[in-house]
Amino acid sequence: MSTVLSGCAICYGGGVLADCVITDPPYLINYQTRHRQNRQDKFCKPIANDNNPQLIIDLIPLLYDVMKDNTPLYMFCNADKVDFFKQQIETRFTIKNIIVWDKGNHTAGDLGAQYGKRYEFIIYANKGRAPFNPDVPRYDDVWAFPRVTGNEQIHQNQKPIPLLQRIVKQHTKPHDIILDPFMGSCSTAVAAHKLQRDFIGFEIDKDEYDAGVKRLNAERAQVSLFDIFNL
Ligand SMILES: C[S@@+](CC[C@H](N)C(=O)[O-])C[C@H]1O[C@@H](n2cnc3c(N)ncnc32)[C@H](O)[C@@H]1O
Repeated sequence: MSTVLSGCAICYGGGVLADCVITDPPYLINYQTRHRQNRQDKFCKPIANDNNPQLIIDLIPLLYDVMKDNTPLYMFCNADKVDFFKQQIETRFTIKNIIVWDKGNHTAGDLGAQYGKRYEFIIYANKGRAPFNPDVPRYDDVWAFPRVTGNEQIHQNQKPIPLLQRIVKQHTKPHDIILDPFMGSCSTAVAAHKLQRDFIGFEIDKDEYDAGVKRLNAERAQVSLFDIFNL
Protein backbone atom coordinates (compact mmCIF):
# COMPACT_ATOMS: atom_id res chain seq x y z
CA MET A 1 0.00 0.00 0.00
CA SER A 2 2.93 2.43 -0.48
CA THR A 3 5.19 3.92 2.13
CA VAL A 4 2.44 5.49 4.26
CA LEU A 5 2.02 2.19 6.02
CA SER A 6 5.15 0.62 7.23
CA GLY A 7 6.45 -1.89 9.69
CA CYS A 8 4.94 -5.35 9.95
CA ALA A 9 1.93 -6.73 8.16
CA ILE A 10 -0.31 -9.74 8.54
CA CYS A 11 -2.75 -11.16 6.07
CA TYR A 12 -4.92 -14.24 6.29
CA GLY A 13 -7.45 -15.43 3.77
CA GLY A 14 -7.38 -14.46 0.12
CA GLY A 15 -8.56 -11.66 -2.12
CA VAL A 16 -7.25 -8.27 -3.10
CA LEU A 17 -9.65 -5.42 -2.34
CA ALA A 18 -11.13 -4.77 1.11
CA ASP A 19 -14.82 -5.23 1.93
CA CYS A 20 -14.57 -3.08 5.03
CA VAL A 21 -11.99 -0.82 6.71
CA ILE A 22 -12.04 -0.46 10.48
CA THR A 23 -9.18 1.56 11.84
CA ASP A 24 -7.93 3.47 14.83
CA PRO A 25 -5.08 5.69 13.60
CA PRO A 26 -2.80 7.81 15.76
CA TYR A 27 -5.12 10.59 17.01
CA LEU A 28 -2.56 13.33 16.16
CA ILE A 29 -2.56 14.62 19.72
CA ASN A 30 1.01 13.76 20.71
CA TYR A 31 -0.50 11.69 23.49
CA GLN A 32 1.59 10.54 26.39
CA THR A 33 -0.06 9.62 29.67
CA ARG A 34 1.15 11.61 32.69
CA HIS A 35 -0.82 9.62 35.18
CA ARG A 36 1.37 6.56 35.60
CA GLN A 37 3.94 6.61 38.38
CA ASN A 38 6.44 4.53 36.46
CA ARG A 39 7.64 6.42 33.37
CA GLN A 40 9.17 3.18 32.05
CA ASP A 41 5.68 1.67 31.95
CA LYS A 42 4.98 0.42 28.41
CA PHE A 43 1.81 2.56 28.32
CA CYS A 44 3.95 5.69 28.67
CA LYS A 45 5.57 5.10 25.27
CA PRO A 46 4.59 7.74 22.65
CA ILE A 47 2.44 6.44 19.77
CA ALA A 48 4.29 6.44 16.43
CA ASN A 49 3.17 9.24 14.09
CA ASP A 50 0.93 10.84 16.72
CA ASN A 51 2.20 14.24 15.52
CA ASN A 52 2.11 13.54 11.79
CA PRO A 53 -1.06 14.78 10.01
CA GLN A 54 0.52 13.97 6.63
CA LEU A 55 0.01 10.29 7.50
CA ILE A 56 -3.78 10.75 7.33
CA ILE A 57 -3.63 13.08 4.30
CA ASP A 58 -1.72 10.38 2.39
CA LEU A 59 -3.74 7.49 3.79
CA ILE A 60 -7.26 8.47 2.70
CA PRO A 61 -6.76 8.17 -1.10
CA LEU A 62 -4.85 4.92 -0.58
CA LEU A 63 -7.67 3.44 1.45
CA TYR A 64 -10.18 4.51 -1.19
CA ASP A 65 -8.16 2.74 -3.88
CA VAL A 66 -7.90 -0.57 -2.02
CA MET A 67 -11.59 -0.77 -1.06
CA LYS A 68 -14.29 -2.40 -3.17
CA ASP A 69 -17.12 -0.19 -4.43
CA ASN A 70 -19.98 0.35 -1.96
CA THR A 71 -18.03 -0.49 1.18
CA PRO A 72 -17.71 1.13 4.63
CA LEU A 73 -14.89 2.90 6.42
CA TYR A 74 -14.94 3.27 10.21
CA MET A 75 -12.26 5.51 11.70
CA PHE A 76 -11.83 6.29 15.39
CA CYS A 77 -10.79 9.80 16.39
CA ASN A 78 -11.28 12.17 19.29
CA ALA A 79 -13.10 15.49 19.67
CA ASP A 80 -9.91 17.60 19.47
CA LYS A 81 -9.08 16.54 15.91
CA VAL A 82 -12.46 15.50 14.49
CA ASP A 83 -12.57 18.48 12.10
CA PHE A 84 -9.29 17.50 10.52
CA PHE A 85 -10.22 13.82 10.17
CA LYS A 86 -13.64 14.72 8.76
CA GLN A 87 -12.11 17.08 6.21
CA GLN A 88 -9.64 14.45 5.01
CA ILE A 89 -12.19 11.63 4.82
CA GLU A 90 -14.56 13.88 2.85
CA THR A 91 -11.96 14.28 0.09
CA ARG A 92 -12.96 10.78 -1.10
CA PHE A 93 -15.79 9.34 1.01
CA THR A 94 -19.33 10.27 2.03
CA ILE A 95 -19.64 10.61 5.80
CA LYS A 96 -22.82 8.87 6.97
CA ASN A 97 -22.54 9.26 10.77
CA ILE A 98 -20.23 10.46 13.46
CA ILE A 99 -20.84 7.82 16.09
CA VAL A 100 -20.27 8.68 19.74
CA TRP A 101 -18.55 5.88 21.60
CA ASP A 102 -19.43 6.18 25.29
CA LYS A 103 -16.55 4.47 27.09
CA GLY A 104 -18.39 4.18 30.39
CA ASN A 105 -15.81 6.07 32.42
CA HIS A 106 -13.63 9.07 31.87
CA THR A 107 -9.92 9.75 31.52
CA ALA A 108 -8.01 12.09 33.82
CA GLY A 109 -6.74 15.10 31.77
CA ASP A 110 -6.36 18.49 33.54
CA LEU A 111 -8.03 17.60 36.82
CA GLY A 112 -8.47 21.21 37.98
CA ALA A 113 -9.68 22.89 34.78
CA GLN A 114 -11.18 20.32 32.41
CA TYR A 115 -14.10 17.87 32.47
CA GLY A 116 -13.28 14.18 32.31
CA LYS A 117 -13.38 12.89 28.74
CA ARG A 118 -15.81 10.00 28.49
CA TYR A 119 -16.45 9.60 24.76
CA GLU A 120 -14.57 9.23 21.50
CA PHE A 121 -15.87 9.50 17.95
CA ILE A 122 -16.04 6.89 15.22
CA ILE A 123 -16.41 8.46 11.79
CA TYR A 124 -18.50 6.13 9.64
CA ALA A 125 -18.14 6.84 5.92
CA ASN A 126 -18.97 5.08 2.67
CA LYS A 127 -17.19 4.54 -0.62
CA GLY A 128 -20.34 4.68 -2.78
CA ARG A 129 -23.18 3.40 -0.57
CA ALA A 130 -22.58 0.51 1.86
CA PRO A 131 -25.90 -0.96 2.97
CA PHE A 132 -26.19 -2.72 6.35
CA ASN A 133 -26.75 -6.47 6.38
CA PRO A 134 -30.51 -7.02 6.39
CA ASP A 135 -30.47 -9.36 9.41
CA VAL A 136 -28.80 -6.94 11.87
CA PRO A 137 -30.52 -4.33 14.04
CA ARG A 138 -30.36 -0.67 13.01
CA TYR A 139 -28.60 1.05 15.92
CA ASP A 140 -28.56 4.73 16.71
CA ASP A 141 -25.35 6.77 16.74
CA VAL A 142 -24.47 6.55 20.44
CA TRP A 143 -22.72 3.30 21.33
CA ALA A 144 -21.95 2.27 24.89
CA PHE A 145 -19.08 -0.20 25.26
CA PRO A 146 -16.76 -0.20 28.30
CA ARG A 147 -13.16 0.63 27.44
CA VAL A 148 -10.55 -2.11 27.86
CA THR A 149 -8.72 -2.07 31.22
CA GLY A 150 -6.82 -4.35 33.60
CA ASN A 151 -5.23 -7.64 32.56
CA GLU A 152 -7.05 -7.65 29.25
CA GLN A 153 -5.25 -4.47 28.14
CA ILE A 154 -2.01 -4.87 26.20
CA HIS A 155 -2.08 -1.62 24.16
CA GLN A 156 -2.69 1.86 25.58
CA ASN A 157 -5.33 2.59 22.89
CA GLN A 158 -6.92 -0.85 22.75
CA LYS A 159 -10.49 -0.92 21.42
CA PRO A 160 -13.20 -3.29 22.72
CA ILE A 161 -13.80 -6.46 20.68
CA PRO A 162 -17.64 -6.35 21.07
CA LEU A 163 -17.71 -2.85 19.52
CA LEU A 164 -15.55 -3.97 16.59
CA GLN A 165 -17.69 -7.09 16.15
CA ARG A 166 -20.78 -4.90 15.88
CA ILE A 167 -19.21 -3.14 12.88
CA VAL A 168 -18.06 -6.39 11.27
CA LYS A 169 -21.56 -7.91 11.57
CA GLN A 170 -23.20 -4.75 10.30
CA HIS A 171 -21.68 -4.93 6.83
CA THR A 172 -19.81 -8.14 6.08
CA LYS A 173 -20.19 -11.89 5.69
CA PRO A 174 -17.78 -14.77 6.41
CA HIS A 175 -14.53 -14.56 4.40
CA ASP A 176 -15.02 -10.93 3.47
CA ILE A 177 -11.77 -8.98 3.91
CA ILE A 178 -11.44 -6.52 6.79
CA LEU A 179 -8.51 -4.08 6.56
CA ASP A 180 -6.95 -2.28 9.54
CA PRO A 181 -3.84 -0.24 8.63
CA PHE A 182 -3.08 0.57 12.31
CA MET A 183 -3.47 -2.77 14.10
CA GLY A 184 -1.96 -1.99 17.49
CA SER A 185 -2.81 -5.05 19.60
CA CYS A 186 -4.71 -6.73 16.71
CA SER A 187 -8.17 -6.00 18.15
CA THR A 188 -9.76 -5.68 14.69
CA ALA A 189 -8.03 -8.89 13.59
CA VAL A 190 -9.39 -10.72 16.65
CA ALA A 191 -12.93 -9.41 15.99
CA ALA A 192 -12.62 -10.48 12.33
CA HIS A 193 -11.33 -13.93 13.28
CA LYS A 194 -14.13 -14.50 15.81
CA LEU A 195 -16.64 -13.91 13.02
CA GLN A 196 -14.75 -15.93 10.37
CA ARG A 197 -13.78 -12.90 8.30
CA ASP A 198 -10.42 -12.59 6.53
CA PHE A 199 -8.04 -9.84 7.55
CA ILE A 200 -5.19 -7.63 6.34
CA GLY A 201 -3.37 -5.33 8.74
CA PHE A 202 -0.25 -3.23 9.36
CA GLU A 203 1.59 -2.09 12.46
CA ILE A 204 4.79 -0.02 12.53
CA ASP A 205 5.88 -0.71 16.11
CA LYS A 206 7.60 -4.08 16.36
CA ASP A 207 6.81 -4.56 20.06
CA GLU A 208 3.11 -3.80 19.53
CA TYR A 209 3.10 -6.03 16.47
CA ASP A 210 4.63 -8.96 18.35
CA ALA A 211 2.25 -8.59 21.30
CA GLY A 212 -0.74 -8.25 18.96
CA VAL A 213 0.16 -11.28 16.86
CA LYS A 214 0.68 -13.34 20.03
CA ARG A 215 -2.81 -12.34 21.14
CA LEU A 216 -4.28 -13.16 17.72
CA ASN A 217 -2.52 -16.53 17.55
CA ALA A 218 -3.84 -17.45 21.00
CA GLU A 219 -7.33 -16.61 19.76
CA ARG A 220 -6.84 -18.60 16.57
CA ALA A 221 -5.56 -21.62 18.51
CA GLN A 222 -8.87 -21.90 20.33
CA VAL A 223 -11.16 -24.43 18.71
CA SER A 224 -14.64 -22.98 18.41
CA LEU A 225 -18.02 -24.60 17.95
CA PHE A 226 -17.90 -23.20 14.43
CA ASP A 227 -14.83 -25.30 13.70
CA ILE A 228 -16.27 -28.46 15.29
CA PHE A 229 -19.62 -28.28 13.56
CA ASN A 230 -18.29 -26.57 10.43
CA LEU A 231 -20.90 -23.81 10.74
C1 LIG B 1 -4.40 4.04 18.19
S1 LIG B 1 -3.28 2.76 17.99
C2 LIG B 1 -4.26 1.37 17.51
C3 LIG B 1 -4.76 0.54 18.68
C4 LIG B 1 -5.63 -0.63 18.24
N1 LIG B 1 -6.91 -0.16 17.76
C5 LIG B 1 -5.85 -1.62 19.35
O1 LIG B 1 -7.02 -1.93 19.68
O2 LIG B 1 -4.87 -2.09 19.92
C6 LIG B 1 -2.48 3.22 16.50
C7 LIG B 1 -1.36 2.31 16.08
O3 LIG B 1 -0.87 2.72 14.79
C8 LIG B 1 0.51 2.41 14.74
N2 LIG B 1 1.12 3.18 13.63
C9 LIG B 1 1.48 4.48 13.61
N3 LIG B 1 1.98 4.83 12.40
C10 LIG B 1 1.89 3.73 11.60
C11 LIG B 1 2.21 3.46 10.23
N4 LIG B 1 2.74 4.39 9.42
N5 LIG B 1 1.98 2.21 9.75
C12 LIG B 1 1.45 1.24 10.54
N6 LIG B 1 1.14 1.43 11.86
C13 LIG B 1 1.35 2.68 12.38
C14 LIG B 1 1.01 2.77 16.13
O4 LIG B 1 2.22 2.12 16.43
C15 LIG B 1 -0.17 2.32 17.01
O5 LIG B 1 0.04 1.02 17.54
